[in-house]
Amino acid sequence: MQRSERIWMGAGIALLVIFLATLATAAIVDGFVPPSHVQSIDPTKVSQTPPFDHPGLRKLADGSYEAYYVAHIFAFDPAHLIVPAGAHVTFYVTSSDVEHGFSVPETGVNTMVTPGWVSTVSHTFKTRGKFLLVCNEYCGAGHQLMAGDIEVR
Ligand code: CUA
Repeated sequence: MQRSERIWMGAGIALLVIFLATLATAAIVDGFVPPSHVQSIDPTKVSQTPPFDHPGLRKLADGSYEAYYVAHIFAFDPAHLIVPAGAHVTFYVTSSDVEHGFSVPETGVNTMVTPGWVSTVSHTFKTRGKFLLVCNEYCGAGHQLMAGDIEVR
């Protein structure tokens, strides 16, 4: 092997080690969590853990709301949500079983839902109408049936 080949191979391996060490340090020392996941929750006790024991919409102030969702195979709870037009809604979503997605096309609402974590995402619903809510992470045999809707009126 030529000397220049050895040097480039060594540089490649050294970079790989540095990148992996950086990832490992971030994961272990800084406690990296998936993006938009703010709180942890026991996935086996979601149905007993407030406020996920009563999923749905909560009014915080005029025009400001929180929506608590539980994703499970193969449905969202609540399946239907009614929000007033103009409402700013912060979604808190968790899973009681496997990895799911939480996506409301045309709104920018899109997050992964990981068991053990609460994902958050916010949106202001300016236009009236019915929005589809879909799971966009393959979660099993009934994945394509996992949908709900959000009605803005
Ligand atoms: Cu839940 Cu796909």
